Formats: sequence, structure tokens, C-alpha cells
Amino acid sequence: MRLAGKVAVVTGAAGGIGAAVCRRLAEEGCAVVAADRDPERVRALADELPGEIAGVAADVSTDEGNAALVAAARERFGGLDVFHANAAVQIMGGLEGATADDWQRMFATNLYGAASGFRHAIPALRERGGGSLIVTASVLGLVGDPDLPAYGAMKGGLRALCRSLATAHGPERIRVNAICPGDVETPMVAEFFAFQDDPAAARAEITDRYPMRRFADPRDVANAALFLASDESAYITGTDLVVDGGLLARVY
Ligand SMILES: NC(=O)c1ccc[n+]([C@@H]2O[C@H](COP(=O)([O-])OP(=O)(O)OC[C@H]3O[C@@H](n4cnc5c(N)ncnc54)[C@H](O)[C@@H]3O)[C@@H](O)[C@H]2O)c1
Repeated sequence: MRLAGKVAVVTGAAGGIGAAVCRRLAEEGCAVVAADRDPERVRALADELPGEIAGVAADVSTDEGNAALVAAARERFGGLDVFHANAAVQIMGGLEGATADDWQRMFATNLYGAASGFRHAIPALRERGGGSLIVTASVLGLVGDPDLPAYGAMKGGLRALCRSLATAHGPERIRVNAICPGDVETPMVAEFFAFQDDPAAARAEITDRYPMRRFADPRDVANAALFLASDESAYITGTDLVVDGGLLARVY
């Protein structure tokens, strides 16, 4: 019970990684507000998971959505210790294919959504004498992908956001860190491969680039979130936890 007595908000909870994070935190005694814009899936998740889970439908691209999540944590569980901004949308296409609307949609959820969530969470964390803010960024915040320039720009922005907030809120014992996964077996990755000319060949070729010769299971990422949420990472802030099976270690 590494998170006994703690309360977390996890956004994008109905997705592959978000659901695994909710489950892993709950397994370690954390009360969780599981948030997603998809009301049916978030309710089903709350019914399915063990432990204290409140499923809340919210659009995290809005301040109202994020305010509602922090309010739910206070009302249901008496406060907040951890906010994991994990929700994102991925819109495929190179720079010349992506429209201004595509950029705005990604900005609103992927980057502003996290900043807004943290802005609403910080006063609640302060009341508890500190806490942990986590984003799911990506290896694409560190390196490039020809098909995903806008998505990568948001992920790089999230890493910069974490560093700034870590410097601002360290004195209050509020830690801010980014998890940078490589490919994870979720619907988002399935969508990426469906976009390729030969999905099976693309998957085989990319899998072969991983020293571990597999994509991450969502639970691999959830274990990183558990570590960053817990006091085991009490002296870790303003940094990236890369969860990529060694992908970025390889050049040739
Ligand atoms: N799957 C991967 O390979 C991978 C790799 C690196 C980083 N990531 C990141 O991990 C996070 C989770 O991705 P995933 O693979 O689980 O994706 P997913 O598509 O399975 O889940 C994303 C969830 O976010 C929700 N969501 C989207 N916009 C929202 C909004 N405005 N408000 C509330 N909820 C919203 C969706 O409904 C969905 O349930 C994302 O930030 C993604 O960019 C994923």
C-alpha cells in the first residue's frame, strides 16, 4: 500500500494508459478520480476497478472540466495529492497536412489541458503540504517523427512546462515530472499503425528497433506513474522518466 491515504486525479482514464494508471494507483491504496470525456467508458471503468474510484466525465481542454475534477477529489475524498495529466489526442499528418484547427485541437487538450489541470490542482496540493504533478509526455517530446510534428511539439512543450513548474513550486514540496513512453499497446498506437501503408510491416519494423523487442504494456507506464506519485520519488522533480524499452539508447 504505497499510496495509502493519498488521492489522485487521472485524466484520459478511459484510454489504455489512463485505465492502467488508475488500476495501479488504486491497487496501492490511492483513492482515484478517473476522468475522461467519454462518460460511458469512464463509468464502466469505475465499476470494474477495485478500490475507491470515482468516475467523472470531464473535458480537460476546458478550465471548467479541470475545476470539476479537483472539486470531485475534494468532495469525494477530502483533498488531492496527485494530478496526472494523461489525456491527449493524436492527429496524424506532416506539417503541410495539418490544419490550424488540428493544431488548436491538440493544443487545447494535450498542452493547455495539462497546464489548466495543474493550475486547478496546485491550491489543493498546497493545502496538503505538497504533492505530485505528472504528465504523460512521450519520446516524441525528445526526438522527431515525420508523421507527428504537431503532436511532438505538444509533448516537448509539456516537458518544458514541467521544468518551469518544478522550479516555481519546489519550495512548496510540489514535484512536477514527465513520463516519456515509446510505443505502448493502446488504441492510440493501433490508430497510428492503421494510418501506415502496410500496418503489419510497419509494426514489425518498429518493434525491431526496440532493444527489448516489444512495445510497452500500459502497466509498464503505470508503474512509472506509481513511482512518481509516491514518496519514493520525494527528491525527484523537473525531470523526465523515459519508459521506452531502450529505444532512445539506440542510434544504429
Ligand atoms: N500509446 C502510446 O504509444 C503512447 C506513447 C507515448 C505517449 N502516449 C501518451 O499517453 C497518453 C495516453 O495515451 P493512450 O495511448 O492511453 O491513448 P488513448 O487514446 O487510449 O486514451 C486517451 C484518452 O484520453 C481521452 N481524452 C482525449 N481528449 C480528452 C479531453 N479533452 N478531455 C478528457 N479526456 C480526453 C480519450 O477519451 C481517451 O480515453 C497520451 O497523453 C498519449 O499522448 C501514448
